[in-house]
Amino acid sequence: MERVVTGEELEDDGVVDNTIRPEVLDEYIGQSEVKENIRVFIEASKIRGEVLDHVLLYGPPGLGKTTLAFIIARELGVNIKTASGPSIEKSGDLAAILSTLEPGDVLFIDEIHRMPRFIEEILYPAMEDFTLDIIIGGEGSSRSIKIDLPPFTLVGATTRVGDLSAPLRDRFGIISKLKFYTEEELTEIIKRTSRVLDMPIDEEAAVELAKRSRGTPRIANRLFKRVRDFALVDKKESIDLEVMEKALDRLKVGKSGLDETDHQLLRAVIERFNGGPVGIDALASSIGEETSTIEDVIEPYLLQEGYLKRTSRGRMVTEKAYKELNINYQGGLFSLDIE
Ligand code: ADE
Repeated sequence: MERVVTGEELEDDGVVDNTIRPEVLDEYIGQSEVKENIRVFIEASKIRGEVLDHVLLYGPPGLGKTTLAFIIARELGVNIKTASGPSIEKSGDLAAILSTLEPGDVLFIDEIHRMPRFIEEILYPAMEDFTLDIIIGGEGSSRSIKIDLPPFTLVGATTRVGDLSAPLRDRFGIISKLKFYTEEELTEIIKRTSRVLDMPIDEEAAVELAKRSRGTPRIANRLFKRVRDFALVDKKESIDLEVMEKALDRLKVGKSGLDETDHQLLRAVIERFNGGPVGIDALASSIGEETSTIEDVIEPYLLQEGYLKRTSRGRMVTEKAYKELNINYQGGLFSLDIE
């Protein structure tokens, strides 16, 4: 079964994401620091009559980076053109996108860390001076020409800010980290989704769903959609705690919001590596996941919620992980936790 509580985008997220996505800052719930700063920068750029500085949004998948990029364009009153790092393979791909921009437009590049390095280098002058340096001609007779671009705002999104080269990172004037949402924020998002999709949900069911959404709106909305299916088939007019519990049990989403993949990782550290510390690569091959999937998708929430710790010698589970898995914890007795 497909992993339902991953923050990564799944194929059938699209339709719902697009209808329930907030369109203006006032509708965007949570991330209040980022939101209020961006509000000020947008306002200031309008007062000055200049384009908004380039914005880099980073954080785990599903926290609303794309949503925020669309909101920024909307609040600026400009068009948004979108691309993703891996889809820009040749310099011509980037030149083609850049040449469609109109003054003030937002260019959104998702997964910007996956853009080839030589493409990054074309972006530097485009970001800094709004010029495109292209090389024409072949061996012996090649020369570089400069093409002026309209001023634009690049909004980059990434789950791995550390993978961006320093020169690229330095060209963003605004760098914002998106954090996991609180239970209260997720409850609000779920209630908003319930209104937009016209399917009522009881307060207690909304709170419980929020608890099981791994701090991630994309997961909350995805679970909402699946729970709604169970409610529909059970001929319920609203989602109550009973149908929610039933649906989430079927989807194997536990009380804590952790699923089998999370459990598999924690169990591997405990059973195969004595609770850790274990290096990320050894752990990845032990559970058959990519190192980057562990780092970007699975572990951020486990670290934030204190199931897992990062030490200089690798990952270690905590007592909370033993409790989650109902395994007897004997840690403190025999081992020293050295950070
Ligand atoms: N849907 C997804 N993310 C959201 C957010 N941050 N605020 C409101 N609705 C959302």
